[in-house]
Amino acid sequence: MQDRLRGYVDDVGYTFGVCPELNPLHARLAFLQAGLAPPAIRTACELGFGQGVSLALHAGASEVQWWGTDLLPVHVDSARALCAASGTDARVFASTFAEFHARPDLPGFDFIGLHGVLSWVSAQTRSEIAAFLRDRLAPGGIVYASCNTLPGWSDLAPLRELATQHAARIAPERATTVDRIDAALDFMQRFLDTNPLYATTNPRVIERFERMRRADRRYLAHEFFNRDWHPLHFSEVAALFAEAGLEHACPAHLRDQLDGLLLTREQQAMIGGIPDAHFRETARDFATNRQFRRDYWVRSRRPLDDDTRRALWRETRVVLTSHPDDIPAKIVGERGEVRLAEPAHRAVIDALASYRPSSVGSLAESPACHDIAFDALTDAIHALAAFGHVMPAQDDATIARCMPRVAGLNALLLARARASDDIDFLASPVTGGGVAVDTIDQLLIAAMADGARTPAAWVAHAATAPSFIASGMEARRLAARADRLADKRLAMLGALGCVPSIQR
Ligand SMILES: C[S@@+](CC[C@H](N)C(=O)[O-])C[C@H]1O[C@@H](n2cnc3c(N)ncnc32)[C@H](O)[C@@H]1O
Repeated sequence: MQDRLRGYVDDVGYTFGVCPELNPLHARLAFLQAGLAPPAIRTACELGFGQGVSLALHAGASEVQWWGTDLLPVHVDSARALCAASGTDARVFASTFAEFHARPDLPGFDFIGLHGVLSWVSAQTRSEIAAFLRDRLAPGGIVYASCNTLPGWSDLAPLRELATQHAARIAPERATTVDRIDAALDFMQRFLDTNPLYATTNPRVIERFERMRRADRRYLAHEFFNRDWHPLHFSEVAALFAEAGLEHACPAHLRDQLDGLLLTREQQAMIGGIPDAHFRETARDFATNRQFRRDYWVRSRRPLDDDTRRALWRETRVVLTSHPDDIPAKIVGERGEVRLAEPAHRAVIDALASYRPSSVGSLAESPACHDIAFDALTDAIHALAAFGHVMPAQDDATIARCMPRVAGLNALLLARARASDDIDFLASPVTGGGVAVDTIDQLLIAAMADGARTPAAWVAHAATAPSFIASGMEARRLAARADRLADKRLAMLGALGCVPSIQR
């Protein structure tokens, strides 16, 4: 058993995160913006799905056939319970990657995703992953992978060494992982208070330790306390995936496609002039001191000519996912800014303001967008999507077919929100995945689903939830949240299919 785990933490489950880059529709936007052909995705697989929230949302809210595997039975139980709520036929297994690979019944997958896995497993496990990708990725398919990166971790990595050495050498042998973490953090606090030269020479350490101290212990257990923890240079990931016959397609995090936000003009010119694509990525990581990468990989990149790229954009459907008043005029990054209030952005927001999904082709012909050049329009859609204000949407027939499954999953999530604030998402048949809805909004929506008709009645209902009581939030803040939900979010969440039938 111990060997099967390879030092992976198994006495505490992970947190309940969602990774939007695992939504195949999201990949389409990233590929089109990079000028690459996006594949059609019918079968998908998530390796190391953790609590399974991403997998359950993407399987429940779309018609993609999802499969997945994870090492820990507690994770698999969680994923199965979430999948059962929607009635999706997703197939999830409590297997190691190597065991899963050996199954005789696996299809070829159009999409294989692994979020937060590569840096947290051994070199042997990474090779097993590469072998799986080599054998099970369908022709033309894509891989999503994220990992901790260098040079961003170079000054902070020793903090993890201090924590894990304390946990291994000082904590009592039979202590749980969480007890070891608490003891290590207590020691580190006292030690950092003595001003070790490591911290004075590396000033980011104190702030990073503060974040560690406040973090969810389940997150820390899986993030730092496994036997393996390897921030990887881009070149190391590229070499690993080359074993699977893969090459880099494009960044998966849409913000990483916005050079104006991340790089100075001088850096853009210099990096843009580097002839080797891999070395360009490495230089970008050094320019941004990157700590975490999310990328799509393919067997062979299929660049699009301009006409085909525009035609594919026209077919792409998008939907507004923020109230227009909540979209800031500009986003300021480390090295530059992105403006979201230019005529093209305003035109997109106006044309989508009904919260109905629209193809980009129809959008371009709408009165609001008529005067905007097509490429400026798609750049604006991409920038709005990069900050979560627009998301890609499924076609109407698929949305209608996914509606009942999403209702089942959301009923479970809303019921669960009364006891726990773990999952900050609801499923949407429109986006084919998750939409960010925190526990407070979920409690208020659950009140509506139970027949409460006014914001005051939602508040009265939500205020009795154990999760609300545990949050320590004041009643008047809950009332303000109910007003905000009614004014700014309800119409959108209703249109996205996240709210059970609203009776107001
Ligand atoms: C850091 S967690 C990330 C979980 C999830 N992807 C997320 O982002 O929430 C890494 C996951 O990989 C799984 N894992 C680690 N080694 C594995 C192996 N050899 N086979 C299958 N799953 C493994 C762990 O159980 C864990 O759920």
